[in-house]
Amino acid sequence: MKRYEKFADQIAQLIRSGMLAPGDKVPSVRHASRTYGVSPSTVFQAYYLLEDRGLISARPRSGYFVRELAQHPLAEQETSAQSARTTAVDVSELVFSVLDSLKDPHTVPFGSAFPSPELFPLPRLARSMAHALRDMPAHAVIADMTAGNPDLRRQIALRYMVSGVRLALEELVISNGALEALNLCLQCVTSPGDLVAIEAPAFYATLQVLERLQLQAVEIPVHPREGIDLATLADSLARLPVKACWFMSSLQNPLGASMSEEKKRALYELLQQHQVPLIEDDVYAELYYGSQPPKPVKSFDRDGLVMHCGSFSKSLAPGYRVGWVAGGRYAEQISRLKLMTTISPSVPAQAAIADYLQHGGYDRHLRKLRHALESQQDAMLASAARHFPPGTRVSRPSGGYFLWFEFPEAVDSLQLFQLALAQGISLAPGPIFSATRGFRNCARLNHGHPWTAQSERAMEVLGRILAAF
Ligand SMILES: Cc1ncc(COP(=O)(O)O)c(C=O)c1O
Repeated sequence: MKRYEKFADQIAQLIRSGMLAPGDKVPSVRHASRTYGVSPSTVFQAYYLLEDRGLISARPRSGYFVRELAQHPLAEQETSAQSARTTAVDVSELVFSVLDSLKDPHTVPFGSAFPSPELFPLPRLARSMAHALRDMPAHAVIADMTAGNPDLRRQIALRYMVSGVRLALEELVISNGALEALNLCLQCVTSPGDLVAIEAPAFYATLQVLERLQLQAVEIPVHPREGIDLATLADSLARLPVKACWFMSSLQNPLGASMSEEKKRALYELLQQHQVPLIEDDVYAELYYGSQPPKPVKSFDRDGLVMHCGSFSKSLAPGYRVGWVAGGRYAEQISRLKLMTTISPSVPAQAAIADYLQHGGYDRHLRKLRHALESQQDAMLASAARHFPPGTRVSRPSGGYFLWFEFPEAVDSLQLFQLALAQGISLAPGPIFSATRGFRNCARLNHGHPWTAQSERAMEVLGRILAAF
């Protein structure tokens, strides 16, 4: 990160925390330069950047001031759903119609599940692919299918270790993206008709997997900042024969909620008491904005009850389809299920990622990516505050690239989706995240793409459509 970007982040943090309130003057260039020990040109560049992000504005001959909208006056949501409900799932048609809308490259991709490909080091990865394949011993082309690329496994285990999770290498199963791992985990611990506790709202593929495996959903409400409602979960576990839980403890999709460490520990203790396995979907783990990676529930696992699923799809290599699960006591069974279905993710893709992790500068790339996503979040929040109708609420995730909007009651997000699409703008309407087609007046918007004049115009158009409901 450049010096002026770092300094801009410091000021943005003061604004976000309320230390600098709307209307306050930000330190003059001379003052800031002296106090923070940076050059006047660094301060200028930082202030231009904050101006671009919509956080401050210049007043002629008076200096820079925090914008009225800079603290994102859209209120934060309070909770997601009412109580736990048990439901058969039937959302696939709806999900596919939304996914279809994303195929047109000219559509503004607010509905997309991925960040912009421009944010990934694809040329460097290609070099890693060439290098790894040139040096690959012949026997590895076959051997790495069953066991997975040994360097990749070691690199993944090392990243767990650095983030405070002890893991036996044998626990790791490399998969075709996290989605395969999640599917296999669920298959491993359930039979058709069983009950599975999931979040409300939940990642739509969770619902599709339950639908495909003929499982029943027990929807647990999620607080937009604090994560699942533990009291409701405890009650459901006491009353119902729940066979597994599938939760995201950090940067939950779509709300962005992250549980505190105490809450993660309490969740683990609750599940341990009932001996209900947890499938922990942690694909956004690397996209936190703060200085410390959030710990997964897996870090509290004493007896292999947690299956922790991760992926490179969101942070490094979308399309390479390389993910994994640290499968705890279920690892061997998961591995066998994989051998009975897809056998293995592509060996060259595994080798490329292993080489990149060793030599490509993954951590440097991640720092840049997180920074881009955070400043794009600022831009989308500020833009929503300018254009969306009063009464709109929004989540404030501390990472990732999604915002969850709750619009005034009159808004029907499925209609909003159609009207926006007709104007070349996609979005992910609330009902695709719910087994009961709830969240009718909500939508998930992606800010994983560099913020441009086109993004700003698209928000303005959405604002006009919303105002007409
Ligand atoms: C919450 C969540 N879990 C899992 C996945 C699937 O990840 P992968 O592409 O590694 O299969 C996604 C991708 O959209 C996701 O958002």
